[in-house]
Amino acid sequence: MTTAAPPVFTPAELDAEADRLFRALLSVDCEPGRRWDYAACRGLAPLTLEINRLKREQDAVILTHSYVEPEIIYGVGDAKGDSYYLSLKARDSRARKIVFAGVVFMAETAKILSPAAVVVVPDRGSGCSLADSITGADVRRLKALYPDAAVACYINSTAEVKAESDVCVTSGNVYDIVARLPERRVLFVPDRLMAENVRAELRRRGVDKEIIASDGTCIVHDQFTPADIAAARARFPGLKVVAHPECTAEVAAAADYVGSTGGMMKYVKQTAAPYFLMLTECGLVGRLQVEDPEKRFIGGCRLCPYMKLNSLEKIRDVLRQPRPDQVITLDEDVRLRAARGLERMFELTPA
Ligand code: 13P
Ligand code: SF4
Repeated sequence: MTTAAPPVFTPAELDAEADRLFRALLSVDCEPGRRWDYAACRGLAPLTLEINRLKREQDAVILTHSYVEPEIIYGVGDAKGDSYYLSLKARDSRARKIVFAGVVFMAETAKILSPAAVVVVPDRGSGCSLADSITGADVRRLKALYPDAAVACYINSTAEVKAESDVCVTSGNVYDIVARLPERRVLFVPDRLMAENVRAELRRRGVDKEIIASDGTCIVHDQFTPADIAAARARFPGLKVVAHPECTAEVAAAADYVGSTGGMMKYVKQTAAPYFLMLTECGLVGRLQVEDPEKRFIGGCRLCPYMKLNSLEKIRDVLRQPRPDQVITLDEDVRLRAARGLERMFELTPA
């Protein structure tokens, strides 16, 4: 196999690209020991130029979850956001190729919704502790135990689990969708902590549902504790605490706002406060530092090891020549059954 020579860019092209990256990234400092100074941006410029050229040549788009590195989001991304927004982008994409810089379940969702596109992932190891916690066979066993229950699966699940479910939900629409299901009993997979948050929210809304949960958790969000919040509030008066519904119900109860990564960004942008504590993945803090540089964040965010497997080098390589394991393929029967739950999610999501 011959490897194509890397493209050569002129010093002027490289300088202009380094300027663009530096302007986009200069306010990001959430990762200890990493700065996007001008020299670092000049070092990234050949990569981002090549990736953006390969994208044009191949009619590809790069969808980026807010948790991946900022040089991916702002250097080569065509869309950035939470899993609901990115699933809409994948559904509506007309590109021949979708590179999903996120985790594998998100790329599978893109393939379910956009079957004609070639969907690739930079790193096949980018799993998710929630998606990996339950199989389609496990869901079938649960369904046999609770035949009268509607099955709602969080989007952080494999295509096989989606195929066994009646409806899919994301962190942004979970409460509204579960509340709207006609069945009283709901089998909620795979996030046990989100299920606790759904129970609490539906109780608050006066909606009578029995929620049966499986036993997955997010290894990033299940780490935060109410003690972290109390200690931070004591040190930073006026602090606003912002949490994701994958956190425990105790953490959610002690937070000022609980919502999807998209909702968390919106809340911070709209809220005047001296400090924010973001109980989520650090990538979201990086996005906020770029898009709302006046806001101040105290430490406390955590890194998702799966999201951090994405890199510019891997995106370039998957565009140059994808390995078979980087291309998402799905059994067509599984894809069609999984698509039904996603389409129902789009119908039930409030505008
Ligand atoms: P969002 O849908 O809020 O983007 O969450 C996805 C995720 O993996 C959070 O851990
Ligand atoms: Fe999965 Fe948690 Fe990582 Fe999100 S942050 S991809 S839920 S492990």
